[in-house]
Amino acid sequence: MRDLTALTERIEAARRIVVFTGAGMSTESGLADFRSSRGHWKRYDPLAMASVEALQSGSHAFYDFYRMRIEALQGVAPNRGHRVLARWEEEGRLLAVVTQNVDRLHQTAGSRNVIELHGNLREVFCTGCGRREPSTLLLERTDCPSCGGRLRPAVVLFGELLPEGAFAEAERLTEACDLFLVLGSSLTVSPANAFPALAKASGASLIIVNKGGTPYDGRADWVIDGAIGETLADVDEQLSRQG
Ligand code: APR
Repeated sequence: MRDLTALTERIEAARRIVVFTGAGMSTESGLADFRSSRGHWKRYDPLAMASVEALQSGSHAFYDFYRMRIEALQGVAPNRGHRVLARWEEEGRLLAVVTQNVDRLHQTAGSRNVIELHGNLREVFCTGCGRREPSTLLLERTDCPSCGGRLRPAVVLFGELLPEGAFAEAERLTEACDLFLVLGSSLTVSPANAFPALAKASGASLIIVNKGGTPYDGRADWVIDGAIGETLADVDEQLSRQG
């Protein structure tokens, strides 16, 4: 087991941790991320698959891409990393989880204060009347059962603004935290990738756990180039030993 003593002590001492997660949080649950060697954007063009223009074009590629991801969500479960975070929230260690992920595995694992910056793929809504439905409906149809309008995933597409309330709440929490813990994000997509710098500017420590580098590694207090599940499980074990 790696020596995570210093990291564990920092987490133990923190009183207001904000955890910031990206797609790397869910790969150990079997979901692909976007930019690692097996990520979605290594196989698909993000603008052709996940942009407002792609939605408006009603392209088959757009709907096939999201149907593939909705099917991938069926039957996946939170991994040990999600479960550790849910318990740390229960133990009063975390202010919140701010996530870029749309799989809702944090909530399924029991995390209650989860800020979704990019919406969620568990729901779709009608672009005409706004009716919301479970996203599995998109596996059957793309027209709204109520008004015949076009159904779309409840995720933020490239070219769209992030949900105002979620962004403001994430900003407030990031400014209030004493430790900002990044888990599994390449930190390459704005505006979500501005939060680590905001945390540092607000006086918090910055820890990044990610396989592979990020543009913020130079400003982090700790960088762990390793698997999230194993790292969180090791830290959690040391925390419980400290009692
Ligand atoms: N442990 C640690 N790191 C991991 C693991 C793991 N088990 N699995 C993957 N990673 C790392 C990858 O190496 C990669 O650096 O997680 C990072 C995930 O980065 P991205 O694939 O870019 O995902 P993310 O940062 O969440 O992307 C942000 O981009 O396309 C949009 O809307 C999409 O929310 C997404 C946003």
